[in-house]
Amino acid sequence: MQVNLHETWQIGPVEIPSRLVLAPMAGVSVQAFRRQGRRFGAGLVCSEMVSCAGLQHGNERTLGYLRIAADERPLAVQIFGSDPAVMAEAAAMVEDARADIVDINFGCPVKKVTKTGAGATLLDEPDRACRVVEAVASAVSVPVTVKLRRGLENGSRACLSVGPRLVEAGAASLTLHPRSAKQMYTGTADHALTAELASLVDVPVVASGDITSRARAKTVLATTGAAAVMVGRAAQGNPWALREILDGEGVEPSREEVVAELILFMRETVRELGEHRATGFLKKFYGWYLGRGRFPRTFKAELTQLPTIAEVESRLLAAAPGARFVLARLEETLPQGDEVLLDLPISIYGGG
Ligand SMILES: Cc1cc2nc3c(=O)[nH]c(=O)nc-3n(C[C@H](O)[C@H](O)[C@H](O)COP(=O)(O)O)c2cc1C
Repeated sequence: MQVNLHETWQIGPVEIPSRLVLAPMAGVSVQAFRRQGRRFGAGLVCSEMVSCAGLQHGNERTLGYLRIAADERPLAVQIFGSDPAVMAEAAAMVEDARADIVDINFGCPVKKVTKTGAGATLLDEPDRACRVVEAVASAVSVPVTVKLRRGLENGSRACLSVGPRLVEAGAASLTLHPRSAKQMYTGTADHALTAELASLVDVPVVASGDITSRARAKTVLATTGAAAVMVGRAAQGNPWALREILDGEGVEPSREEVVAELILFMRETVRELGEHRATGFLKKFYGWYLGRGRFPRTFKAELTQLPTIAEVESRLLAAAPGARFVLARLEETLPQGDEVLLDLPISIYGGG
């Protein structure tokens, strides 16, 4: 069946204006990434996974993940943890911060998370996984969704037995990344499983994994019955991939456009994370933006050696002076940061 990528769809009452979802990625999905994703056509964006224990303890850095700008929405905030009561409490905070959707992570394969019984481990503990979803769904009035892998071990089909149970427990949508936790990011995403899962549940299924082109997106949508595709790594430093997938505009951006988007990204990230954290955080993005044959390798290496973000910005503008004008036009079209930031409700700070 042909699916129009621009068709709206819904998760519960939340209307999503395109069939493209920007993946949650730890260490990547900052506000600048999500807002940029929305500008380039993602219908839904997602925060990186947020620790429910961190929220419960009022950890300042964790609370920072709940800072949502109006132009990111619709937006899902993803939480992880294994204790139903703590997850429910965290979900209520996410709702208070005015996220449109609470997403639960049952897919993270990283040891630091799985050893606490959270992430993909819960695919091996379906009763507990269901209790988490039930507790979260009864704590909030926004839709609750789950992102999962196929299972823990290679070849596992656990998602097909666990998935329908999660829907019964209250999940309004499931996103499947059909690799095992053991696989991490090796091999390929087996979207035959996505098709099987979509046939078993009556809520929208989102297909995640290896969606890197318009052709792939269309094939996966047409052959799986998924409601939408999720794009992760292909969009790192490359929002133009989203536009290409949506509209088939395969035109490479000019050097000026690349530099303008990167500088905007840097400025927003400094505002969100502060200069010190942003300096280290941004280094990987230089390679992602300037790679793909857009700039010489030596230039990328040079940028990562510069001690301050201001120096990186100057060096970028020296390499593509016309970017100044593209950036000015871009900034004019954006809402001012201060106007769009929603204040965190007092309750999130525990009443002050
Ligand atoms: C650096 C990185 C961080 C990720 N962090 C998360 C995360 O916080 N939560 C989550 O559900 N998935 C996470 N993922 C998985 C992605 O959301 C996505 O399912 C996976 O990368 C497959 O899609 P892709 O081939 O389009 O990248 C992460 C992936 C990467 C590469």
